Amino acid sequence: MAMTADPDIATPQDVPAHIAIIMDGNGRWAQARGLPRREGHRAGVEAVRRTVRAAIELGVKHLTLFSFSSENWSRPVSEVADLMGLLRRFISRDLADLHKHGVRIRVLGGEDNVPGDILKTIGEAVKLTQANTAIELNVAFNYGARQEIARAAERMLVAFENAGERRPTMTPGLFESFLDTFGTPDPDLLIRTSGEQRISNFLLWQLAYTELIFTQTLWPDFGEDDLRDAIASFHRRERRYGGLGARTTA
Ligand code: IPE
Ligand code: IPE
Ligand code: MG
Repeated sequence: MAMTADPDIATPQDVPAHIAIIMDGNGRWAQARGLPRREGHRAGVEAVRRTVRAAIELGVKHLTLFSFSSENWSRPVSEVADLMGLLRRFISRDLADLHKHGVRIRVLGGEDNVPGDILKTIGEAVKLTQANTAIELNVAFNYGARQEIARAAERMLVAFENAGERRPTMTPGLFESFLDTFGTPDPDLLIRTSGEQRISNFLLWQLAYTELIFTQTLWPDFGEDDLRDAIASFHRRERRYGGLGARTTA
């Protein structure tokens, strides 16, 4: 699609460096069409492809997609199996293309309950793409933020045990070096599709000063225009980080 002359996002420098997305509404998209939920998830994969492509074109440097939550294991076994199958197929079909386009894949989340073949495939995808620099694609899979924070605390305790008497003073900066997201800047913009206005255990630490955008669009309908709209709304926000920003103080 041709780049439109949108003054809000005229140059890549104006684009938020890190966009995180809670991809929600696949089930409702399918239901509205009288289709089984798995068809919604299948259409959701197409929206992932469109969004990654658009993010690269727009110059986004980090894109984080919530693809399966720690809590999603509570869905019917058949739906969980459909989602695992889609992930397997996505990696096997799209990995070469993602690599060709300079996508660096990173995975956020725990390993518990994840089938061994998926862990192996994910590990290979991460390794293959580790030197790519066009965009970092963080796939939050089997991810829950409270679980991530507990994992970080666990890693930290092990590191501190080994440090003995030389245990360093705890600071937010030190703590976050144990998180799955270490090295990636916090999201500038979070988009949640499908009209739900909640965080659902996503990136609780990292979203401290993120701008939140909730859109009615169901995830399988999401595309480049929605991404551009979200970026345009982002540019109308004033981020103040607890200060006074551009407001006059007189
Ligand atoms: C998002 O769509 C995909 C996952 C959570 C895996 P949903 O499956 O949650 O769709 P709705 O919310 O039921 O419409
Ligand atoms: C959040 O969506 C998880 C993902 C998008 C992967 P859910 O559909 O699971 O969230 P809730 O249950 O509506 O909070
Ligand atoms: Mg949902």
